[in-house]
Amino acid sequence: MSEEILICRCQEVTEQEILDAIADGAATVDGVKRRTRACMGLCQGKTCGRLVQQMVARGTGKDPADVPPQKSRMPVRPVKIGVFGGQDDA
Ligand code: FES
Repeated sequence: MSEEILICRCQEVTEQEILDAIADGAATVDGVKRRTRACMGLCQGKTCGRLVQQMVARGTGKDPADVPPQKSRMPVRPVKIGVFGGQDDA
């Protein structure tokens, strides 16, 4: 049943995949993120981050307040190489 429950809708990561990641040694949200790609979707974990945080806390026996949220990354977009050389219309 839990393998059908999506925790991260953006990356289509199921509850079971997250439980497997925790069983595999992921003790932080970032550890789950690296193993499953949860929290790496379009919403950047705004929807699933707290759920993953709670699952990590439950799976590791920690208080949820002691499990830090995932690290945020700056949004990136592709740029043409000429931009670095100073071309305005690159
Ligand atoms: S629901 Fe997980 S990144 Fe959006």
